[in-house]
Amino acid sequence: MSTPDLSAQPPEDLGVRKAKHLEICIQKDAYAVETGTTLFDHIHFAHRAIPEVSMDEIDTSTSFFGTPISMPLLISSMTGGSSGGYAANKELAKAAQACGVPVGMGSIRILFRKPEVADHFMLKRFAPDVPVIANIGGVQTRELNHSTLVEWIKKLEVQALAVHLNPGQELAQADGDRDFSGVVAAIARLAEASPVPVIAKETGFGIGPADARRLVDAGVSAINVAGRGGTNWMAVERYRLGDAEQQAVVKEFDTWGLPTALLLASLCRDERITLPVVASGGLRNGMDLAKAVGLGAWLGGYALPLIRAVDAGGSEAVITLIERFRSVLKNVMLLTGSRTIDDLQSDRIFTEPVFEATLSEYLKTQTY
Ligand SMILES: Cc1cc2nc3c(=O)[nH]c(=O)nc-3n(C[C@H](O)[C@H](O)[C@H](O)COP(=O)(O)O)c2cc1C
Repeated sequence: MSTPDLSAQPPEDLGVRKAKHLEICIQKDAYAVETGTTLFDHIHFAHRAIPEVSMDEIDTSTSFFGTPISMPLLISSMTGGSSGGYAANKELAKAAQACGVPVGMGSIRILFRKPEVADHFMLKRFAPDVPVIANIGGVQTRELNHSTLVEWIKKLEVQALAVHLNPGQELAQADGDRDFSGVVAAIARLAEASPVPVIAKETGFGIGPADARRLVDAGVSAINVAGRGGTNWMAVERYRLGDAEQQAVVKEFDTWGLPTALLLASLCRDERITLPVVASGGLRNGMDLAKAVGLGAWLGGYALPLIRAVDAGGSEAVITLIERFRSVLKNVMLLTGSRTIDDLQSDRIFTEPVFEATLSEYLKTQTY
């Protein structure tokens, strides 16, 4: 494949864009970026009056491609590339290390133009004992040189690479990508070349079973549904648009995407998808995490609540929030008689008929 010389392209300042994203996501009174619903409300646990388990026995631990982690929680891919982003990344990485959970970072695309900001993404020194995940866009896997990408993966000492699929977000950018052809083939080549597992993720509109099956065939090692119900990246981008007509078009996508719980159920029940599935997009509390894991998720990912916690109180506030989620998860495990995560995934939940009916209608579309 020919590799374009990106330095010859217009020097759009990715760092400035990332800083603006951060501002829009953090200032919740100024910008409404959460739309839609996850459908976790339609999922319930079967409470046990006689759980016959002691809290001392509850074990929330699991593993991330062979590395033990203390609970099935992921700090989702977020930022880097601006000074605010670097500061946030550091706090997130420190919290990940303290809590024993994996941590993602924002897209490293900027390193192909500005290698001098590599420091922003060197999170391993703050999180030496937990998995750190690099990030790149699906379209960039088609355009960037894979040997250089592999070099960055090695330099950053990460344990996995997340490839984000974000066509909705791109369409909402005045200068965003418009050509999404050839991405699966590029991901397949990258998965082959990558020294670490590749995780395919959306950014808030979701990955369904038909696309997931193509990603499985492409050789990815896990799928992160990143569905609807949380941060809506078309809404985030709308605040950056200068043109009122463009804003009006994007505004009509406020409830676009597939709810996270619906996608999670559809992937976890699909016999052809044998890979671990991450639930993210709209997880906002510990009960969402417990329900996601109960439905079959390998990990539950959080972005917006944690970046807002960084803003409110740095790594300490992030740790407090994650520990709150852990307490809720442990209480749910006790009240459902689950000693381990495997137990929690053994028929501890039930879903409302409306959820099943919606799921079965949705699955009729997944034939491509
Ligand atoms: C400030 C911020 C920056 C983000 N940057 C990236 C990114 O660079 N790459 C990526 O894959 N996802 C990025 N995301 C998307 C999240 O990983 C996540 O998929 C999405 O926000 C939905 O999760 P949430 O509802 O918990 O926020 C970002 C999210 C936030 C809040």
